[in-house]
Amino acid sequence: MQVGLNISVSEFLRRDVISARDFKRDHFEYILRAVEDLEKSPGSLDGALRGKLAALLFFEPSTRTYSSFQIAAERLGMKVTGFAGPTGSSITKGETLHDTVKMFEGYGADVFVIRHNRMGAASFAAEISDTPVISAGDGSREHPTQAMVDLYAIKRAFGRIDGLKVGMLGDLRYGRTSSSLAYALSNYDVEITFIAPEALQMRPEVIHFLTRRGVTPKKESALKDVARALDVLYVTRIQKERIPDPTEFEKVKGMYEVNLEALREAKPSLKVLHPLPRVDELSAELDGTSYAHYFTQAAGGLPLRMVLLNLILGGGR
Ligand code: NCD
Repeated sequence: MQVGLNISVSEFLRRDVISARDFKRDHFEYILRAVEDLEKSPGSLDGALRGKLAALLFFEPSTRTYSSFQIAAERLGMKVTGFAGPTGSSITKGETLHDTVKMFEGYGADVFVIRHNRMGAASFAAEISDTPVISAGDGSREHPTQAMVDLYAIKRAFGRIDGLKVGMLGDLRYGRTSSSLAYALSNYDVEITFIAPEALQMRPEVIHFLTRRGVTPKKESALKDVARALDVLYVTRIQKERIPDPTEFEKVKGMYEVNLEALREAKPSLKVLHPLPRVDELSAELDGTSYAHYFTQAAGGLPLRMVLLNLILGGGR
């Protein structure tokens, strides 16, 4: 049990990670503190899960999430199996999620990390298997471990999450990272502004959830109207592959570019986050500035995923 938190480590044991809505503030705080501890003593979890097997089943492409889970599992001493995208697996032959999960269960997987383009895939896998399932991206709805990475990046930059003004910009409708982050942030005393054209604005179910939690988000269409008030600007790419109508994509593409000019009135302490990959919505001219926090954010994915796997599989350190 960590000081001041009302949960114990056993709450994480064999737990599925499907939605950021399933976690309370104390769960997030527990994880963030454990990541801080790990960063203070790197190596302290090395080998903690020796002999266990992680099955990474990525039915959609991935760079950061796949590799950070893979490296995290290996640092913990685990063996890693699975696939990093549809090519190179039997999915191209039509093999189903169900059969894939059942097969890796038979091979003795201790945890599944699943990314899929269909909403509900991770919870389906959790229903048909007793092995813990971690969603690594579920259609356009959720990406709970990215939300933990994002919270950690915010905490690392400001030393706190409470009291901050967070703007989320880009494709909020089809981007799964922004909804998961919004759910996670609803545990904190924050102000959230969704910045997007109407066609890409945050989905009503997310807004209702936040409102019920007492965090009523604001909606804006232009960054310039809010930039000066923000502490955090979370930028996301337009999800070309998820927008159902290509003509809709043509209308919105290139609509935003966060560059130095767009941040002219921003606070010097503003931190810009992005789950990456970026396309043209985040200018490389920010890379060398104090605003850029996205590479530090991505680097936090490794210790965070080590901590999460260790908590779920009971590494006991
Ligand atoms: C995101 C994803 O896959 O949802 N990437 C990631 O995991 N960091 C963001 C995106 O693809 O736009």
